[in-house]
Amino acid sequence: MPWPVNMIRPATPEDLSALFELEETSFSHDRISRRNFRHILNGANATTFVASDRQGLCGYVTVLFRRGTGLGRIYSLAVARRCRGRGLGRKLLAAAEAACRERDCRALRLEVHPRNARARRLYRQAGYGVFGRYEKYYENGADAVRMEKPLPPRRPPRRASRRRS
Ligand SMILES: CC(C)(COP(=O)(O)OP(=O)(O)OC[C@H]1O[C@@H](n2cnc3c(N)ncnc32)[C@H](O)[C@@H]1OP(=O)(O)O)[C@@H](O)C(=O)NCCC(=O)NCCS
Repeated sequence: MPWPVNMIRPATPEDLSALFELEETSFSHDRISRRNFRHILNGANATTFVASDRQGLCGYVTVLFRRGTGLGRIYSLAVARRCRGRGLGRKLLAAAEAACRERDCRALRLEVHPRNARARRLYRQAGYGVFGRYEKYYENGADAVRMEKPLPPRRPPRRASRRRS
């Protein structure tokens, strides 16, 4: 029986090696380099969430923010093979969306390989719709499908109700 996955938490610089390892085993091309991960973990315009169990890192999601655009962008999302199919991908995606709402983003965007059926299904089920394509986006020359999910605005603070006299 698998160990329970711990709560999703923001990544710290101590997660660098485990993140790099997970990236290496999750993607066969277009991997994030160690240097790039270091930059992401120290940058103000990126947020990474991780989840782990007793064996180590189970998954991560990195979301980037570009100032003045009102948009967040999923830079990468991966779940370790041994942790897949248990809803973690969906939870990490939800964490990324919550981080976007915190920053008042109006939408979250991402790119996905047209043949990545698992990821496409995950995104579709989570409310992402296709809005375009990036030609020759990946290292191997494949196009990327662009998807977007509009995010509802944060609720304005409730006004104190006034009693009529
Ligand atoms: C895509 C990925 C993140 C999904 O993670 P996961 O934790 O297994 O996903 P979940 O368990 O949360 O499943 C959520 C949904 O994803 C889809 N999904 C997950 N595994 C699937 C599979 N084997 N076949 C088809 N759809 C699948 C389903 O829509 C699923 O919802 P459902 O269980 O209600 O049908 C994971 O497979 C992964 O890391 N893949 C390699 C890296 C990658 O491709 N990242 C995305 C880059 S854009």
